[in-house]
Amino acid sequence: MPALVNLKQSGLLHRKTTFLGVSHDEGDAVALYERLSQFVEKNAEWDSWRENIDYLAGEFEDPAIYELLANRLKGDVIFYLATAPAFFAPIAEALGHARLLDEADGFRRIVIEKPFGTDLASARTLNQRLLAQASEQQLYRIDHFLGKETVQNILVTRFGNAMTEAVWNNHYVDHIQITAAETVTIGSRGAFYDATGALRDMVPNHLFQLLALIGMEPPISLDAEALRTERAKVIAAIRPIDPMDAVRGRYTDGAINGEAVANYRSSPGVATDSRTETYVALKLMVETWRWHGVPFYLRTGKALKARDTEIIIRFREAPLSLFRDAPAQKLPPNRLVLQIQPREGLALEWAVKQPGPLLQTTPASLRFAYADLFDLGHRTGYETLLYDVLVGDQTLFQRADQIEEGWRAIQPLLDAWRSGEPDEYVAGSAGPDAADALIARDNRTWHAVR
Ligand code: BG6
Repeated sequence: MPALVNLKQSGLLHRKTTFLGVSHDEGDAVALYERLSQFVEKNAEWDSWRENIDYLAGEFEDPAIYELLANRLKGDVIFYLATAPAFFAPIAEALGHARLLDEADGFRRIVIEKPFGTDLASARTLNQRLLAQASEQQLYRIDHFLGKETVQNILVTRFGNAMTEAVWNNHYVDHIQITAAETVTIGSRGAFYDATGALRDMVPNHLFQLLALIGMEPPISLDAEALRTERAKVIAAIRPIDPMDAVRGRYTDGAINGEAVANYRSSPGVATDSRTETYVALKLMVETWRWHGVPFYLRTGKALKARDTEIIIRFREAPLSLFRDAPAQKLPPNRLVLQIQPREGLALEWAVKQPGPLLQTTPASLRFAYADLFDLGHRTGYETLLYDVLVGDQTLFQRADQIEEGWRAIQPLLDAWRSGEPDEYVAGSAGPDAADALIARDNRTWHAVR
């Protein structure tokens, strides 16, 4: 809703666009408006929304509600399924049955939020059921990471700067790290999260989106299909992840920023003997010509010491250190840090000469911070995505094959983790020790989460 309000304020939403809520709760348009009010800034703009908000109470399984919708909806319609995932396919089938997906008098598009399936088999079934009702062009599978400015900036970093592509391969890159560290705990999402876990919640979707943009080949154009094809190809090239290359963790009692945090198992909605992971670290290989032999290390977790989403491209060391006779001369490797959030920007770690008579080097950082140049305002990231649904641009949405390839890659972990227990880590720490051991095995270390 805040994103829609921002869109309207920017003049990008037709003033007659109507927002029709459908839910099993009793209520009416006024009640819905009041409920939505808690999420948006209350100003004249929001006041003007009163007449654009409508409500229909009913059960998603009840065909009658679709009859009512069919009488009410004319022209261009977007069905945004902000529902429990179990309803995605049944709703699409009911919409199809009521001929609400026919595009005779306007477009009909369905937006679906993650989780898109819970494993490879369920994702395939869901895709099949949706595609039996609507064409791929009508389906918008949202991953909000693709709406983030700094995520889209990966494309510009790579393909808008001739220098980067020259070294973006296994000749120059030693390894890549992708981190999405969060300080938040499970909060009130216990029931959802306990059935999901960190792996399903973050890896095949958000982290793989980042991986796809980092790892893809240059598309032939910025056309939606060209980009979606290249992204899907990288994910299809991920070798199924070996459970020996992955670590899972669960937070115990601790403190974050001085505030006590109770252990995961005591969260509301979470089983007291839960075996769900709140942290994952893994190593994977992308078997393409470009990345052969370059490991990708991914990690994500809740209740960590800092919020930090970033990508590190760690370059190889210089082939020969000319400075080896000077004291303590190990050349620091170049690293490109793409900071997704917070403090959006990028940094290149570079060796410079230390002032003084000795020829000594020291690492320095060339930095660019978005906040220094631009006002990112109060954008939610959803503005771009919703606008794209309205104008029919599928570039930032996931195609069925990419989703299935993501599940295929992590399926060995889903299978292996049906038994056993996550390692424990203290809330407010950097994660389980086993994650450090995982990367140390390859004589490497994680970039410190700040
Ligand atoms: C959601 C996950 O999709 O993404 C959450 O379900 C997670 O568990 C969130 O916290 C992270 O998104 P962001 O934009 O806050 O990094």
